[in-house]
Amino acid sequence: MSSLVTPSDELLSFLKELPDMDIEAYLDAVSKPLPECFRINTLKLSEERIISLLRDRGWQFEKLPWVKTGYKLLNSTERGVGSSMEHMLGLIYIQGPISMLPAEVLEPAPRMIVLDLCASPGSKSTQIAQLMRNTGILVCNDVSSTRIKPLVANIQRCGVINSIITQSDGRYFHRWVREQFDRVLVDAPCSSLGIVSKDWTAANKYNEKISKRISKLQQSLLISAYECLKPGGLLVYSTCTIHPLENENVITYLLDKKKDAELLPVLVEGLRSRSPLEEWRDIKFSSEVKKCFKCYPYDNYAEGFFIAKIRKEA
Ligand SMILES: C[S@@+](CC[C@H](N)C(=O)[O-])C[C@H]1O[C@@H](n2cnc3c(N)ncnc32)[C@H](O)[C@@H]1O
Repeated sequence: MSSLVTPSDELLSFLKELPDMDIEAYLDAVSKPLPECFRINTLKLSEERIISLLRDRGWQFEKLPWVKTGYKLLNSTERGVGSSMEHMLGLIYIQGPISMLPAEVLEPAPRMIVLDLCASPGSKSTQIAQLMRNTGILVCNDVSSTRIKPLVANIQRCGVINSIITQSDGRYFHRWVREQFDRVLVDAPCSSLGIVSKDWTAANKYNEKISKRISKLQQSLLISAYECLKPGGLLVYSTCTIHPLENENVITYLLDKKKDAELLPVLVEGLRSRSPLEEWRDIKFSSEVKKCFKCYPYDNYAEGFFIAKIRKEA
């Protein structure tokens, strides 16, 4: 193999088990850095105004068709996007191109009540606030005290004023607020096998036992999120992994437990995607999982992602 990265034996044997996986293409894609992309933050200034400021500074970029205010950088900036004045002022938010998708799929709108159950560091919370035009109520929750700090910093930097930040274990969130939210996002903790180009340690750490354990945590988070959702509301579940136990399996679990949950198709223009698996090893998944969005890193030379959109019967 000509790839730059060498997978651990455990990762390699997992990849071999995926019937639709091209291992060489996967290793090639994750050997390359993710494309540099950003969102324009319309909570600070209009999109036109920010575009013109960036162009005046020599930035070249093109629109990402699947996100309202998402762009891909085409040239490198003098100091790097992360230390640019535009980033520090919150005019832009640096984010992976496919990571911008779950908040769009959630369809948050002004004056809604929205919960982001696993919110830190706030990429999707700040995007949701933007789509809500800073109105309504956005509850941004995370379990980790260390990760609450970057969440607060990003919320402040982006000028979000409709949010409440909570630190609690999302598995039990429904005990406090049952059926109160128009929209709930679960951007779940996962094995991160779709974004290993950011940090190869996730791939080195991969082991089957961890994925099985995370899958149980994801199931509990999703059930709690569903309990928090109003009848007629929308729930989005997303991960940046390619592991069927953390994706298709978790959605099948929800559909088995909650008979009033309906899976809606996630239709995306401009991105290559693939059909989720209906069975893996000896596990049969619900045939409904076909409606979810799934891509591997080499499908778009970007992140690997899984997104499910669920409606609770009204
Ligand atoms: C994939 S990250 C979320 C990324 C975030 N949504 C964003 O777009 O910036 C998953 C997050 O889930 C949090 N988490 C892990 N276990 C949790 C739990 N039991 N309850 C709530 N949050 C949890 C982690 O601390 C981590 O910040």
